Amino acid sequence: MEYADVYLKPKRREAISEKSPWIFSGAIEAVREFDEDGQLCRIRLGDDVVATGYVNTQTNIAVRVLEFADVQVNVDFLRRRFEESRRMKESLLQGCTDAYRLIHAEGDRLPGLVVDKYGDYLVMQSSTAGIDNLRELIMEALVAVFQPKGILEKSSSTSRKTEGLESVQQVLHGEIPEEIVVEEYGMKYAVDLLGGQKTGFFLDQRENRRIIAQHAQGRTALNCYCYSATMGLGMRQAGVATLHNVDLSEGALELAARNYELNGIAPGDGEFQEADVKKFLGEIPKDFYDLIILDPPKFTASKRTVNAAIKGYKHINMTALRKIKSGGLLFTFSCSGLVDMELFRKILFYAAKDAGRDVRVVRPLHADVDHALSIYHRENEYLKGLMLYVL
Ligand SMILES: C[S@@+](CC[C@H](N)C(=O)[O-])C[C@H]1O[C@@H](n2cnc3c(N)ncnc32)[C@H](O)[C@@H]1O
Repeated sequence: MEYADVYLKPKRREAISEKSPWIFSGAIEAVREFDEDGQLCRIRLGDDVVATGYVNTQTNIAVRVLEFADVQVNVDFLRRRFEESRRMKESLLQGCTDAYRLIHAEGDRLPGLVVDKYGDYLVMQSSTAGIDNLRELIMEALVAVFQPKGILEKSSSTSRKTEGLESVQQVLHGEIPEEIVVEEYGMKYAVDLLGGQKTGFFLDQRENRRIIAQHAQGRTALNCYCYSATMGLGMRQAGVATLHNVDLSEGALELAARNYELNGIAPGDGEFQEADVKKFLGEIPKDFYDLIILDPPKFTASKRTVNAAIKGYKHINMTALRKIKSGGLLFTFSCSGLVDMELFRKILFYAAKDAGRDVRVVRPLHADVDHALSIYHRENEYLKGLMLYVL
């Protein structure tokens, strides 16, 4: 593969010295030996090669850095990255699960790539032309490291549109069964890789499932936007008194029912409710629930819709805060990358104020350890949450 040469403006040295994996188009003086977008490139300051990455001349993020040195990006390079990530993730998770995020894009020094491991199966997600071009090498390296039974590509992120790429879902290696069962802290969860949301399962909420369960005993709980009810199952195991899991998707609730079955837990009356949360919250009685979870889908993926997302978050949180019993716990999340923790806290401040409730922040909540971030790059910090005590 031929490498393009990307020359940085001499005055924009910080684009490299601050080790951000993103180089914006404004920092670039010239691109030479260029064949196509997504091409591998050497990043140069004068004659010196200071980094290796891939280039896209159509996007504002013009270069994504793979290494701050002159390296060959080949199967060996990718193998080393996958092995390094596997070591890190498996040591951090200490055998609590066979399902984890192996590659969290910039967080694992492979911008544009996500790889999730579900037992013997892998799901990869590419969000850039650069990663699309490396697809074959990535496959070869993943097979060498894991010998998986199957690899599924599920590339549907909104950022693909910015790169002029279509959504792709294809089996790249072996076979993908309709259902895979994974284990997490002794619980079994069914994962629908082919039909399910995201790459199949919300791995990022692993630690939050545990934290919520720790506080569930004897409570009357409402699990809003429950998907496959993994948070609900944790609460059932911990002895919650009453539980309602709510989701708009019939498929999600079918998965939820399957998860109950897999763990030998029988759902109670009304434990699964197919409904729009906004409407549902508006209709629940006051002072009935004393534990509410709000884990909505991403409300915004673009700067244009951030204001609408803020209103959306404020509305559901304000309604939940109005209705929750005194002494209740609200676990509230946002997975919109464009709403950072500071903004999310501000939204909750206004929600509490307008609901007329006194609220204590018990603890901030984040994605679990396999979604670690690069210290040089905040942009892929997408999941944030707050555990609130409502007086
Ligand atoms: C981020 S996921 C929730 C993940 C879940 N808490 C877990 O840990 O597995 C968001 C869920 O919200 C559901 N959803 C989206 N819009 C909804 C709405 N208006 N009312 C109810 N559920 C909705 C989706 O079907 C999806 O299952």
